[in-house]
Amino acid sequence: MTRELQTTGVERFFDSNEIIVSKTDLKGRITYANQVFVKLAGFTEQELLGQPHSIIRHPDMPRAVFKLLWDTLEAGKEIFAYVVNRAKNGDHYWVYAHVTPSFGPSGEIIGYHSNRRVPDHAIIDNVIVPLYAQLCDVERAHANAKEGMKASVEAVVALLQEKGVSYDEFVMSLGQDPKYAPAAVIAGDEMRSVA
Ligand SMILES: Cc1cc2nc3c(=O)[nH]c(=O)nc-3n(C[C@H](O)[C@H](O)[C@H](O)COP(=O)(O)O)c2cc1C
Repeated sequence: MTRELQTTGVERFFDSNEIIVSKTDLKGRITYANQVFVKLAGFTEQELLGQPHSIIRHPDMPRAVFKLLWDTLEAGKEIFAYVVNRAKNGDHYWVYAHVTPSFGPSGEIIGYHSNRRVPDHAIIDNVIVPLYAQLCDVERAHANAKEGMKASVEAVVALLQEKGVSYDEFVMSLGQDPKYAPAAVIAGDEMRSVA
């Protein structure tokens, strides 16, 4: 099945007072999904539980974002990220995710937890869609997936270094600027020069 056939291009939305929640084990297999998640993703709870979280992976998500997510979580830190997910029928929905490790009594990581809220669609349209498209282009330009992800991660690192901001500062800055102008410049113009 091609990438195109896997998606419908139809966007799904959820309410600003709803939170999509899931928990996973250490390998990213789903151990809990709330009803908002079940409803939006279009899977039954039974279909989700025990499955890898990549069951809702959308082909427009850069691999580099998930590498950053896993590196951050495994280091015991939280991460915020904009993510597009694929529902069972191929529809998609955008979220602003806050993902955290869960700790056991001795401080060891025992699983992971993600809460997602409705993202600001201006940020998605002006910054994230062009940024992720650039990163996916970098990744697809390499026949070897590992090489592609390495190049994509390097593109992100170069971009952040040039701006003198961390990933967290970059993501947080998007929500603080009502016009998203600096971030839009980062995503639109400067990614082209580093890609
Ligand atoms: C708590 C938690 C929540 C996650 N949520 C999502 C999600 O909503 N969508 C998604 O595509 N991946 C999510 N992931 C990342 C997946 O585990 C996986 O890394 C990603 O889908 C890429 O899969 P792939 O490497 O098989 O392409 C989550 C991981 C964790 C630990």
